[in-house]
Amino acid sequence: MTPFAALRASVVFPLGLMLVLLGPYCTTAVLAAPRHALPAAAITGQDDKGKALYLEHCKLCHGVSGTPPKMMVKRFAKIPDLSRPAFFSTRSDDSLMVVLQKGTGVSMKSFAEKLSTDEMRALVKYLRTLAEPH
Ligand code: HEC
Repeated sequence: MTPFAALRASVVFPLGLMLVLLGPYCTTAVLAAPRHALPAAAITGQDDKGKALYLEHCKLCHGVSGTPPKMMVKRFAKIPDLSRPAFFSTRSDDSLMVVLQKGTGVSMKSFAEKLSTDEMRALVKYLRTLAEPH
């Protein structure tokens, strides 16, 4: 064996061995990463519960971020922009709960039949985060 070949074998062999041993592990780690990323973002705290409920029941009219889509602004003259801090500074949690329990008395209906009190609380908490700077 020439010294060069010996050198090559001593470098290539451990490298190859490492690949063989670590390859499947790396692949698994890469494949598993997105699955780990999701639950991390969706750890079931109040905010995430509120967010899920918001996306399910409120997004259609109020928009993902609290700013109503143009179509809804045309349809509902009074629909507020829930992403504006000024809006929430003039509302207490209790008054937001009343809106969810009883509706606005204008176009927005009561959610009393769809949501439990706990779910409404989680929603109110989440609503306030819409107006926080992101
Ligand atoms: C059918 C469309 C629609 C849906 C769905 C809807 N809203 Fe509304 N919402 C409105 C409109 C329109 C207004 C403005 C007042 C009015 O015209 O009734 C309003 C007003 C509000 C207000 C302001 C009330 C106030 O104090 O002035 C809040 C807070 C609110 N909605 C939260 C929610 C939440 C939370 C949900 C989901 C559980 C939701 N809305 C679902 C249409 C909707």
